[in-house]
Amino acid sequence: MCQQCGYSQSQWAGKCPSCGTWNSMVETVSQATGSKRQEVNKAQVLKLSEIKVLEKERVKTGEKELDSVLGGGLVSGMVVLVAGEPGIGKSTLLTQTALHMAQNKYNKILYVCGEESASQVALRVRRLGGKGEMLLVESSDVDEIVGKIEQEKPSLAIVDSIQTLTTADLTGTAGSVGQVRECASRLTTCAKRLGIPMFLVGHVTKEGAIAGPRVLEHVVDTVLWFEGERSQSLRLVRAIKNRFGPTDEVGVFEMTEVGLMGVDNPSQLLLAERVKNVPGSVVSVVLEGKRPILAEIQALTTSSQLAVPRRVATGIDFARMQMLVAVLMRRAGLHLEGEDIFVNVTGGIKLADRGVDLAICLAIASAFLNKSLPAEVAAVGEVGLLGEVRKVQGLDKRVKEAKRLGYRVASAESGKSVAAAIKKLLGE
Ligand code: TYD
Ligand code: MG
Repeated sequence: MCQQCGYSQSQWAGKCPSCGTWNSMVETVSQATGSKRQEVNKAQVLKLSEIKVLEKERVKTGEKELDSVLGGGLVSGMVVLVAGEPGIGKSTLLTQTALHMAQNKYNKILYVCGEESASQVALRVRRLGGKGEMLLVESSDVDEIVGKIEQEKPSLAIVDSIQTLTTADLTGTAGSVGQVRECASRLTTCAKRLGIPMFLVGHVTKEGAIAGPRVLEHVVDTVLWFEGERSQSLRLVRAIKNRFGPTDEVGVFEMTEVGLMGVDNPSQLLLAERVKNVPGSVVSVVLEGKRPILAEIQALTTSSQLAVPRRVATGIDFARMQMLVAVLMRRAGLHLEGEDIFVNVTGGIKLADRGVDLAICLAIASAFLNKSLPAEVAAVGEVGLLGEVRKVQGLDKRVKEAKRLGYRVASAESGKSVAAAIKKLLGE
């Protein structure tokens, strides 16, 4: 069926013959057609005031950071998609959660291993030092799994991963858009009917959105996105959709020998190896959800050997960096035309907060002018195209967190433009 116009045929095609859209044909289970008038009449019209709101009881997973991202815990029938790159720690986190919950002997945990064998999961459990009991199902047939869930009625179901499951009703291979979507919708229906909270693991594929977790976002209640560099130990878990809670919470974990550990104080971890009084290093305070975090921005500039100088951004948006470089050239008079510029956020985290703009500018300027900033300064502020420094939200929180760690925030108040900030802090 074409996802754009609804045209259907019995074969796949790269281009929809009806509307001409490319890659929009997805294998779908065809619905039995016929009169549905009687069903239609069953729908009720309800008065808002008469609807009973069930205050859903939350089940704590026992993993503190995860609970806060979920908005306080699991709700019955809640389906949570845990998405992230392979090897980032999804299975680790869910195995830990299962073990935590299994400590209560009334909890029955069902772990579906589609990706690994049961013995691999058992090996991980041993590595994590877990003692609780759980049920493992080795299967990749979604209908069989739904059957097992109905039979066992667990208090938590974990499916690892959705991309390995298939249903015999479709001919597509495991991981194709059609299969992934159909399997997820069958599992979701099952979870809702039985009132079982369920975790689905979804890999972010190389191609990005195709057949990855994105096609499931509207099917599930909550989407948790795992972020971090595989080579580094810090991991952020972000709720990007949550029907049962806020989406501005972030869970911070550290990958250790014995699993993922919640991190209370990520700033300390990020700044632990900071070398002070070196040109090109600036600390900023970003808001990750509600939580202020101090991060170090590093920059390096060297005169380029290339006709078009290299610009490399790690941990920040590349287009944003280019814009800031342009602002520095035009509004602050820095001659960066012939410079290779590298910007890096230490700790392997990605920053999307605009409040980091000023720190990026100062880091580049500091590297270019070869002058270091006062070590205790944390730069906060959004930079506009006119070279002005703008206020950011949650400044009080940021100032407080910076103070706690011995930093002083330089923000919009200290200078009205980037040029002024550079003059003040770098003495140029
Ligand atoms: P995993 O949870 O299997 O990743 P995913 O399910 O997202 O693909 O994590 C795999 C990585 O985590 C692997 O490189 C090993 C590492 N790891 C640890 O460092 N400590 C541990 O205790 C565990 C279980 C894994
Ligand atoms: Mg895994």
